[in-house]
Amino acid sequence: MTAPDTAVSIGSMSMKNPVMIASGIFGYGDEFRGLAEYGELGALVLKTVTRQPREGNPPGHRTVETPAGMLNAIGLENVGLEAFVRDKLPAALEYGTNIVASIAGEAVEEFAECARALDGTGVAAIEINISCPNVKKGGMAFGVDAGASAEVAAAVRAATGKPIIAKLTPNVTDIAGVAVACERAGADAVSLVNTFSAMAIDVESRRPLLAAGSGGLSGPAIRPAAVYRVYQVAQAVEVPVIGMGVIWNASDALEFIIAGASAVAVGTALYADPAAGNRVLNGIRDYLESHSIARLSDIVGSVEL
Ligand SMILES: Cc1cc2nc3c(=O)[nH]c(=O)nc-3n(C[C@H](O)[C@H](O)[C@H](O)COP(=O)(O)O)c2cc1C
Repeated sequence: MTAPDTAVSIGSMSMKNPVMIASGIFGYGDEFRGLAEYGELGALVLKTVTRQPREGNPPGHRTVETPAGMLNAIGLENVGLEAFVRDKLPAALEYGTNIVASIAGEAVEEFAECARALDGTGVAAIEINISCPNVKKGGMAFGVDAGASAEVAAAVRAATGKPIIAKLTPNVTDIAGVAVACERAGADAVSLVNTFSAMAIDVESRRPLLAAGSGGLSGPAIRPAAVYRVYQVAQAVEVPVIGMGVIWNASDALEFIIAGASAVAVGTALYADPAAGNRVLNGIRDYLESHSIARLSDIVGSVEL
């Protein structure tokens, strides 16, 4: 049998395979250089950037371990758009695969400005982060409202010819409704999930363990919740869905794919195994070969209820 076809397209971004790295885990790629063959993956999504640099949440605990996962409240610390384009992007592009920039803003116009500035760069696509639970302004405030999400997507659509991915929050009643609103506004794909809003408390001091009070939960506990949301969204939209939520191995990734994801992103798992994405990719290839599946797309959304 010839090697299975694993190619995926997101708008004009062609990926040789469906495995991506999720935003925020990989920074701008600097710290992970040399730890794995990241160029073999379909795309690398870099840490969210905003127009101005941000210091993020106050020092103290920005991450906390929980029984089945991890809470984080980084607060979108980033170098700002200008430094990103000047100092970070050129090195990231050397990875030799698609580089996706992730952007956020406190106002719709800030998203559009970031997208405009990235239009002439080498990024293959732009992810709009309307789902960060750890900032006071912007972030999830857009993503919990279908109308506001669509406004951001439309403004970014008008500002750039690059493919747009809308990153959705699971902290809503109707995630499929938000996905459809983004699709109608011009998003080329949707990615989900960002983290689940959560809090952990030290019972002696009666203070939250995170300095910011609350944060976002990732970790094995969220995977079934994420798979279900991918399923719901894939039923509702025509554009490709990118699934994520603690993908450690190929079987986890295949759950998302069979639920309806055309591509998957590996996030928190990179902390334990920097080569997790490559391991997931090899496992997906093995699965396709051992099940005589010629094209990955043959099993996308193939779950039978
Ligand atoms: C430490 C940390 C930082 C993150 N930073 C970002 C970010 O800047 N932008 C973003 O869209 N998502 C961010 N995320 C969310 C991840 O991209 C991903 O959506 C989420 O963690 C679920 O996937 P995972 O469980 O595989 O990590 C962050 C997650 C973690 C754990």
